[in-house]
Amino acid sequence: MRSETAPAIRLEDYKPPLYRIDTVALNVELVPKATRVTSTFQVERQPDTAAGAPLVLDGDELSLAGIRVNGKTLEETAYTATADRLELVSPPAEPFELTLVTELDPDANTKLMGLYRSSATYCTQCEAEGFRRITYFLDRPDNLSVYTTRLEASKAECPVLLANGNLAEAGDIEGTDRHYAIWHDPHPKPAYLFALVAGDLAEVPDRFTTMSGKDVALNIYVEHGKEGLCDWAMDSLKRSMRWDEEVFGREYDLDVFNIVAVSDFNMGAMENKGLNIFNDKYVLADPETATDQDYANIEAVIAHEYFHNWTGNRITCRDWFQLCLKEGLTVFRDQEFSSDMRSRPAKRIADVRLLKSHQFPEDAGPLAHPVRPRAYHEINNFYTATVYEKGAEVVRMLLTLLGEEAFHKGLDLYFERHDGEATTIEAFLACFEEASSTDLAQFSLWYEQAGTPVVSVETEYDPDRKTFSVSLSQEIPPLAGQKSSKPAVIPLRFGLIGPNGEDMETGSVEGAEVNGDVLVLDRAHQDVVFKNVAAAPVLSLLRGFSAPVRLNQPLQSKDLLFLAAQDRDPFNRWQAVQTLAMQDLVRLAGLVRDGVDGVPSEDVIGVLASVLDETQLDEALRAQALTLPSEADIAQEIGKDVNPDAIHAAREMLRRAVATRLGPSLLPFISGHSSGGSYSPDAQAAGKRSLANRCLHYYAASGADDAADLVWSRFSSADNMTDRLAALTLLVQDHMPREEEALTAYRQRHSGSSLAMDKWFMTQAMAPGDQTLERVKALMSDPSYDAGNPNRVRSLLQSFATGNPTQFARADGAGFELVAESALEIDKRNPQVASRLLTSFRSWRALDPQRSSLAESALLRVSACENLSRDSRDIVDRTLQ
Ligand code: TRP
Ligand code: ZN
Repeated sequence: MRSETAPAIRLEDYKPPLYRIDTVALNVELVPKATRVTSTFQVERQPDTAAGAPLVLDGDELSLAGIRVNGKTLEETAYTATADRLELVSPPAEPFELTLVTELDPDANTKLMGLYRSSATYCTQCEAEGFRRITYFLDRPDNLSVYTTRLEASKAECPVLLANGNLAEAGDIEGTDRHYAIWHDPHPKPAYLFALVAGDLAEVPDRFTTMSGKDVALNIYVEHGKEGLCDWAMDSLKRSMRWDEEVFGREYDLDVFNIVAVSDFNMGAMENKGLNIFNDKYVLADPETATDQDYANIEAVIAHEYFHNWTGNRITCRDWFQLCLKEGLTVFRDQEFSSDMRSRPAKRIADVRLLKSHQFPEDAGPLAHPVRPRAYHEINNFYTATVYEKGAEVVRMLLTLLGEEAFHKGLDLYFERHDGEATTIEAFLACFEEASSTDLAQFSLWYEQAGTPVVSVETEYDPDRKTFSVSLSQEIPPLAGQKSSKPAVIPLRFGLIGPNGEDMETGSVEGAEVNGDVLVLDRAHQDVVFKNVAAAPVLSLLRGFSAPVRLNQPLQSKDLLFLAAQDRDPFNRWQAVQTLAMQDLVRLAGLVRDGVDGVPSEDVIGVLASVLDETQLDEALRAQALTLPSEADIAQEIGKDVNPDAIHAAREMLRRAVATRLGPSLLPFISGHSSGGSYSPDAQAAGKRSLANRCLHYYAASGADDAADLVWSRFSSADNMTDRLAALTLLVQDHMPREEEALTAYRQRHSGSSLAMDKWFMTQAMAPGDQTLERVKALMSDPSYDAGNPNRVRSLLQSFATGNPTQFARADGAGFELVAESALEIDKRNPQVASRLLTSFRSWRALDPQRSSLAESALLRVSACENLSRDSRDIVDRTLQ
């Protein structure tokens, strides 16, 4: 018997709360296995609520140890309390004070939601519904309260006591070994932004002066001994604060901004008001243990959480259906920040790669949902690429459609009008409508309709009339649970490139609204005619990836080669190279699958090989252009009857062909770019390293006699993690002669750093070849592995499931089996980590019949399990739908 599925929560059922809790005073007496929380709330009946209507508070695995109304202990008949609900049968009609006592065991909290311990540090995670694991509450984002938090703990165990807001008071408790601190946060906030931290942590202090001259104390708290790993995070924080003032006019609003790094954390980081809590992976860095990618991620995540202070905290969500209101907008803001800090085109390409590899498959499979979902069983499962990344694309389209000025006018209005509120997507869009006098009713479909629109294009040039006709159509492929779709508003940035490679000037345009270089497609079909076009152009469409759509533009190879060489839009140049490579990889994979011999196209080899000489493109862009579509991307493009072995073989074939063509010409790029002992994480230096390592990746496949020695020497002489890991990855994933020796050397060097060991697990988990499965199993009992730590699980099992298509989808089913069994084990401790892992099955129906039936069996075995968490039940049932 499997557990019953609870009814879904629906957007259409939203009702404002019957009562409000305006102020919260918490007294938290921290004791390892018996923490006592005394909560005092000022409760007020809402005007529309009948006097005496029951007050229902949320709980989760709670036990009530005391309850008082206006200071008097409540009779047992006046309330009912279960682990997940507290009901006051007939509360006072007038505002009253409710006091609750709950007892918690933070050590036993393996879900990492609510109050838990990471190493020895007490910390909290309350988004989305973790506060109800601390005390009974109106745990919904539209209840805003002012919090005062008193913490009390052993001085020796927890010298540091932190909560949201500003420190109001601190001192010793006479006659004991304990002390206390009282924090007050003047900004009303929903419970999901509550946080506390207590532990023996080192403090890394700094200061920031805001635009109006206010002095803010900045602190990063880490385990003792890790103080030296915080410089980059602190620098990123200060740059984020300045940038948000300069670009969005947003100033910080408390006297302190604290960041705490913990090693056990379900997600990346959390924007709790004035007290951000981070997965330590997004704080700690030095050249010895962090890659350039790690540095870029830290910069982006620090910025993301900081930017939430306005987009999320000052203005929050009315309900969890509005999650994209804060996440989509904040991702957009962190993307813009990184673009300003680094190379804008390289950042755009990286973001689009992520969107296409994570969000597109989600949007095409059983877990597809609109950017603003209408129903959920478990909100934790909606922190998705669709809400975050597609949500950011929707904001970016607003910018593209309205233009810089109107966009910022709309946002300013949003900040002004909704400051201090919990609001909705409708209210957000209304600000842009007003600021730009534009009707966004049709645009709002981007929040309602799941699925990636396909835009199809046909063109024709008429040399006599000098017209260029573009026939456009759009369609969302049919999805389960969504019958038909309406045409969306799709901004298409474009250029007509003339024979000389320059963008052409054209006469008037008929059939579509065109603003500058943006054409708006807003009907199912549209015939657009450009007049006075002097010569046959090549249409460069969707420049900068101006909309999250799939483009079906049947360009001939010669046109793609032309775009790859000529397009002045760096994104579309990159895209043209990718499209050429993709077309050839799909063709080759088909041949391999059918047992036919094939060779890569000379044109494609040529275009990839020529990227190296494009010295007007910066190194980061050249490295990106030389990166072939991933195996998962190719599988997605093939779409059905997928055979991962054939895809892997095809990709290796093209890699070898390019490598052979380039041969020794790769060498200057490899040796010329070592850091020479003075590592800097800046974008330019990182770009040089990424090109060097991309070249090494090809050289290793070139057949050169000295390739293995070169990779080994890069590994053993590297003075930074970026170069060391790149070489290790080649040694391991190409199964080069000194693979084992390299793994041993790496482990010896880095056994003291869990974050560095995560890379060691990951590179082995992603190695092709059928010995990997046994290796992964063995690594699960490695002393450095810990099934209770989310980062370890992600680096070993999640990267096996999502980054090793041939081994996860082995034809004997053993890969599916391993992931399914592991997820069941993990589910008992930490449902969020387990359900994430299970999402790696989402594209199972696209596999060939043998593999998809093995995947289905594995999923059915998970589904048959009786005590599955709500998180995993939801994912498995939807995946099997
Ligand atoms: N709001 C966080 C962010 O995107 C997300 C987050 C952090 C989260 N921890 C979580 C979501 C735990 C769900 C559960 O910045
Ligand atoms: Zn966020």
